Amino acid sequence: MLVPLLIGVGAAFGAVSNSSAVMVSKEVPQNAGAAILAPFVSFSIEFSSLPDFAENTSKPNQFSNQILDNLANPQGVKPDRALYDPNIKTQINGTFVPSITEDFPWIISIGPSYFEADSTWPGAKFSHGFNLGENTTAAMDSLTATAPLACKALSHGNFAHWDLGNEPDFYKTMLAARPANWTESDYVAEWLSKSQIVKRQIAKACPDMVTNPAYKYIAPSFAGFTYGLDPVTTWEDGLGKNKDIGMNSMHNYMGSADSPGVTLAHTLMNHAAIVLSMVKHTNLSHTLSEKGLNKDIPYILGEMNSLAHQGQPRLSNSFGAALWGVDFNLYCASQSIGRTRMHQGTDYRYAS
Ligand SMILES: *[C@@H]1O[C@H](CO)[C@@H](O)[C@H](O)[C@H]1NC(C)=O
Ligand SMILES: *[C@@H]1O[C@H](CO)[C@@H](O)[C@H](O)[C@H]1NC(C)=O
Ligand SMILES: *[C@@H]1O[C@H](CO)[C@@H](O)[C@H](O)[C@H]1NC(C)=O
Ligand SMILES: *[C@@H]1O[C@H](CO)[C@@H](O)[C@H](O)[C@H]1NC(C)=O
Ligand SMILES: *[C@@H]1O[C@H](CO)[C@@H](O)[C@H](O)[C@H]1NC(C)=O
Repeated sequence: MLVPLLIGVGAAFGAVSNSSAVMVSKEVPQNAGAAILAPFVSFSIEFSSLPDFAENTSKPNQFSNQILDNLANPQGVKPDRALYDPNIKTQINGTFVPSITEDFPWIISIGPSYFEADSTWPGAKFSHGFNLGENTTAAMDSLTATAPLACKALSHGNFAHWDLGNEPDFYKTMLAARPANWTESDYVAEWLSKSQIVKRQIAKACPDMVTNPAYKYIAPSFAGFTYGLDPVTTWEDGLGKNKDIGMNSMHNYMGSADSPGVTLAHTLMNHAAIVLSMVKHTNLSHTLSEKGLNKDIPYILGEMNSLAHQGQPRLSNSFGAALWGVDFNLYCASQSIGRTRMHQGTDYRYAS
């Protein structure tokens, strides 16, 4: 799909002109997919990296801002594990736990100035992620304390969506944050309850925001289809009950940086691999529509990039990976994916 397109453009520039014209109908064809959203490609930024990327109001990060201006239309940010501490004087206090990962701090506290990051890129819209993974008293206190700060920080035309919980399908498997018998309906009950707690706090601090039709979440932000919670069952169990989900968000990677057998030729610069990676999403999208579970709710990839686990040197930060980014995003556009959010973090190994 991509190759003829590039050759066509090359031939036009070369003015040699033996390329054949492609006829495009003025009408939308009957078999066309869903329209993409504006913006289509955007960013997902690791929660702990946002202060690095955006900095604060006294010293906004001009470099990021210029890049975003060049790219035209940004948005982003993702959650979990962070607790709020009103006494922290910096935006973030992150402690690395190298036995778990050296890529981002595992223990995270944020201070009031964390939210200044939401004001440093004029024109950017942000989705703020709330912590669902931790269910301690401290985590509940953080939820109630940060909701007013987040809504005030996002009351300047810079609000995109809320997000509550990052990859909760991993909670009972990889993260051991919930017991093995935690089901889709348990997740839904917790999500509905905590989203109402957030709403009550926001209603007090930012009353105009909760009555605005734009007050919506992206959810369920699952890592996949078979990690512990099934997305169809989750929607059937009433995730959308409060009509406050604006986008059905799933995450996607082509593979994992540390999986054996991942190569540039087979995993990224390979259109068949891209098609295979999308099959489960198109299938889920069809199943949800057939069951009437996501009427008027666009399907997005709320976090995606080439290789999970922050990428792999010489693979996901190479020119070939940048070409993958073009092919993957164009293919998503053809498959009724409304938006992609390319994941980034400080020193991550991505070329796109
Ligand atoms: C804002 O960023 C500057 C530069 O990184 C730093 O010196 C200053 O302490 C920061 N202010 C806050 C409130 O974090
Ligand atoms: C930052 O977090 C670490 C570990 O959680 C803690 O030991 C340290 O006191 C914190 N520093 C500040 C300034 O809060
Ligand atoms: C979360 O905490 C609340 C309050 O302590 C408790 O009622 C609930 O059962 C907990 N949920 C899970 C899934 O552990
Ligand atoms: C689920 O597992 C937890 C912890 O292992 C246990 O305390 C609880 O009784 C179980 N719940 C059900 C409904 O089986
Ligand atoms: C498509 O979705 C249905 C319903 O969830 C499921 O039973 C089936 O296995 C899926 N097929 C593929 C190819 O993912």
